[in-house]
Amino acid sequence: MRVRYFESSAYAEKPGGTAIFLSSLREERGVFFVSCITGEKFWPSFSDRVITKSQAGGIKMIKEDLEKIREEALGKIDASDALDRLNDIRVAYLGKKGEITAVMKGMKDVAEEDRPKVGQLVNDTRTEIEKRLEEAREKLESILREEKMKKEKIDVTLPAKRVSAGHPHPNTVALDEVERVFIGMGYEVVEGPEIEWDEYNFTKLNIPPNHPAKDEQDTFYINKDIVLRTQTSPVQAHVMEKGKLPIRMISPGRVFRSDEVDATHSPSFHQVEGLVVDKNITFADLKGTLAEFAKRLFGENTKVKFRPHHFPFTEPSAEMDVSCFKCGGKGCRFCKGSGWIEILGCGMVHPHVFEMCGIDKEKYQGFAFGVGLERIALLKYEIDDMRLLYDNDIRFLKQF
Ligand code: DAH
Repeated sequence: MRVRYFESSAYAEKPGGTAIFLSSLREERGVFFVSCITGEKFWPSFSDRVITKSQAGGIKMIKEDLEKIREEALGKIDASDALDRLNDIRVAYLGKKGEITAVMKGMKDVAEEDRPKVGQLVNDTRTEIEKRLEEAREKLESILREEKMKKEKIDVTLPAKRVSAGHPHPNTVALDEVERVFIGMGYEVVEGPEIEWDEYNFTKLNIPPNHPAKDEQDTFYINKDIVLRTQTSPVQAHVMEKGKLPIRMISPGRVFRSDEVDATHSPSFHQVEGLVVDKNITFADLKGTLAEFAKRLFGENTKVKFRPHHFPFTEPSAEMDVSCFKCGGKGCRFCKGSGWIEILGCGMVHPHVFEMCGIDKEKYQGFAFGVGLERIALLKYEIDDMRLLYDNDIRFLKQF
């Protein structure tokens, strides 16, 4: 803003040319401090500080002026105790509308030969203010950091918060044991899909279309070709079809049946499937393997008994009982007085299954078994209601 001074009246002119009446005009060593009024508006004098040609008085005057600005700015910086405040000071002195810029604007009123010197002076002042601002910022930041560190101090003598890490589920504990036994005998652990083709869940396992297991009462159908697997046995078909022989595998996993929930049933539970295919495999191999499994799982003195049974995918088929590990076979409440506890289904792989899965039934034989994981967990940990396994109450799970 330029200021024109007349004897009788004074007015300032904005760069755009609007006339503004001065409410006050103060002069300090050739620099005018003006306050202006346009209508109701009042501009405080700060930004209206102007150097005029007539009063510029050459380089000496500007030098003094810059010295004043410098002292004032440095004083304010030194007195600042907040980063915000430093920023305000930066804007007020170095900003587009700041004091230093105002001096620069006055350059055009300085004599040509003095301009480089004045420029140098202005730059020096700017640099010094900038430097002091930077120092003050660093100082303030380090104070702030220190205060923050003090606040965040950790009392290492306080007792630690306990992390609640949960507890392995009895199913998991039981599966770990089953896997350990079979891995120890050289078996591989294989996983299969929970959503399965009807063909694998039933047909390839020699389960005919009219079999009761295929009823909607027993099986969850996704469509007529896809089901939620009702057993882990279809994994047998997948593994055999791959054709890598011999096979020695177990396959644990979730299965689904359209059952009502009660103390011994759930629409979703777990099985562990087993399959061995090799040359010269006999029922003796099946018996020896599963007897060893029972001993490792339930104790050295466990006896096993095979009862003839029927499964479509094995022939002959059997159910295996173990001697009651509670009473040792004498008969108790646990084994319902019989001395035996039913534990799994098993048998020699049916020749039809070999045919459907592309294995030469003349060259190879095999045995298979399927055990309910929940059943093992309930027996081993003497839990009398299956529903407890699905509540996931940590107070219950912690006991095993
Ligand atoms: N899949 C049968 C079931 O869910 C259990 C079973 C029985 C699996 C005999 C087998 C087996 O591999 O040989 O009842």
